[in-house]
Amino acid sequence: MKKIKVMTVFGTRPEAIKLAPLVRALEQSESTESIVCVTAQHREMLDQVLDIFHIRPDYDLNIMQPRQTLATITEKSLHGLDEVLDKAQPDLVLVHGDTSTTFAGALAAFYHKVPVGHVEAGLRTYDKYSPFPEEMNRCLTGQIASLHFAPTPRNRDNLAREGITAGVSVVGNTVVDAIHMTVRPDFAFRDPALQTLDFAGSRVVLVTAHRRENYGEPMENICRAIAQLSETYPDVHFVYPVHLSPYVRETAEKFLGGNDRIHLIHPLAVDEMHNLMARCYLIMTDSGGLQEEAPSLGKPVLVLRRETERPEAIEAGTVKLAGVEQDNIVRLARELFDDPAAYAAMAHAVNPYGDGKTSQRIVQAIEHYFGRRPDGPAPFAP
Ligand code: UD1
Ligand code: UDP
Repeated sequence: MKKIKVMTVFGTRPEAIKLAPLVRALEQSESTESIVCVTAQHREMLDQVLDIFHIRPDYDLNIMQPRQTLATITEKSLHGLDEVLDKAQPDLVLVHGDTSTTFAGALAAFYHKVPVGHVEAGLRTYDKYSPFPEEMNRCLTGQIASLHFAPTPRNRDNLAREGITAGVSVVGNTVVDAIHMTVRPDFAFRDPALQTLDFAGSRVVLVTAHRRENYGEPMENICRAIAQLSETYPDVHFVYPVHLSPYVRETAEKFLGGNDRIHLIHPLAVDEMHNLMARCYLIMTDSGGLQEEAPSLGKPVLVLRRETERPEAIEAGTVKLAGVEQDNIVRLARELFDDPAAYAAMAHAVNPYGDGKTSQRIVQAIEHYFGRRPDGPAPFAP
């Protein structure tokens, strides 16, 4: 029987990390042929992931520009994908999450009347400007998609509220599949800054911040909070792998540069990042992916945002919303440095986002959609 031709489209670091296990599962399935198209909305940060997971894209639109605008990403992706879809003629296009590549990928497939599968469907804040532009990207992608792979029951319910009930399956998040592939107790860091850290004798805090809605005062407040904490706690080392966005780099360097205990380093390869997460004391971040990964590793997370579309880990007790005001961030971090009971209450490994079998479920749902198996996957139950 002819294989189902599945084209996976992605462009940024987190999409690549979360789709890599799925691409592998599609390659291994007897019923699917896997093609990969990257927009390369990110370049170095995307290539780092492709290298680690040994993915060689069939199509690479190479669109990234320094300080690119949302309009140029969408426009260049849409045009490039139009040509690729003409050539590749897939049976299904898979997109992930909420980036500009996600929306452009879904729209391009729609114009070709190719059904779309949306991985990580149904996350919502219900604030169209936060996260910006991600909330609108995922809502619009949800309207286009025929298959919706919701990580959690809550994400499924969010879709139902918008009238999206057909083609929805609760599958968990592929990021948990990815973390099962990278974390090892005997992992040896390649990054020189990580090699010098004493994880046993000092406390290491991992920091990341990059979101567009945090540009300006929020990111400056975050940096001021880190600087204040560093002055207060001489035994603590902060490791901040700085996103390559020029705005983020300038702010991090201006507020945190030149401090021996604040390590501003290049973005880490994903295996180094996951193993750093496994060994650190605390994570402070505005990243979506880190909020989903940390609960697998039993590490407390302070989320440096005003809201989150991932409340499940807050309910599970491993994540707290710290906001973007200096005083509140400092207060919550101090609690975790000073109060062992407060730390222990957050540091437990329960992951409401997945069990490492999400890619398998998505392949089964695709097979079911194309009539290759009688039933879809059994739902992920957190
Ligand atoms: C994008 C996504 C965001 C996601 C984030 C993950 C959109 C609108 N935003 O935001 O949802 O959370 O990726 O990191 O899709 N750059 C490089 N090299 C790289 C990557 C980026 O130099 O490998 C620089 C470029 O100057 C680029 C800038 O970073 O113009 C911003 O990249 P962009 O993809 O526009 O936005 P992100 O903030 O990365
Ligand atoms: N990550 C990485 N190296 C880094 C920083 C992050 O590999 O230096 C990984 C991280 O583990 C997670 C993903 O990138 O899997 C998160 O990406 P990012 O924060 O860029 O985007 P978001 O999740 O906020 O969309």
